[in-house]
Amino acid sequence: MNRHLPPLLAAALITVSPGLAAHDDFAATFAAKAKADINFAQLMQIMQRATSMILDGILAENKEMTVLGAHLLDAHPAPAQGPGAAMVPEQREAFKNVMPAYDKVFHSATERLSVAASQGQWPQAYADYREIMDACMACHETWRPHALSRQQTAGKR
Ligand code: HEC
Repeated sequence: MNRHLPPLLAAALITVSPGLAAHDDFAATFAAKAKADINFAQLMQIMQRATSMILDGILAENKEMTVLGAHLLDAHPAPAQGPGAAMVPEQREAFKNVMPAYDKVFHSATERLSVAASQGQWPQAYADYREIMDACMACHETWRPHALSRQQTAGKR
């Protein structure tokens, strides 16, 4: 477990059970996301650009750039083949099931971040940005070891 993460956030993200996710309204919203011809790693590249744009916007105190980055992060498309395809077969279901919980964190943080940025509250916007990055890192720590790409390069990075 990453010792830099707020324990509650980490616990909330990682202990989400498939049952819980299935009954959450947000699971339906997630399922309705636009499907795009990208794989999971390519979705991640879009997420990276979105968070970079948010950070650049905050540093430059550029409201429009920050809000656009937040929108991109929140409205990202889903890989047409599903997120599970990036994972080793035995982890596919579990990985798909944690997805809505992370999207929910991003949705609520980007909403707050957009309001803060629109009002020029930069320290608050930055706190929201950090909350987003904590969630990115929490998932990476838990799930990247199970990614097919990581298995194929085991020991090389
Ligand atoms: C639900 C879990 C999860 C969340 C949340 C998540 N990631 Fe990832 N990320 C992964 C996994 C798994 C991989 C490895 C994918 C692969 O190699 O196929 C990855 C890979 C990446 C990569 C490398 C992509 C490449 O070119 O190989 C970047 C960059 C990245 N993530 C950025 C982010 C950012 C920024 C966020 C937060 C906004 C984020 N990720 C949130 C699971 C997640």
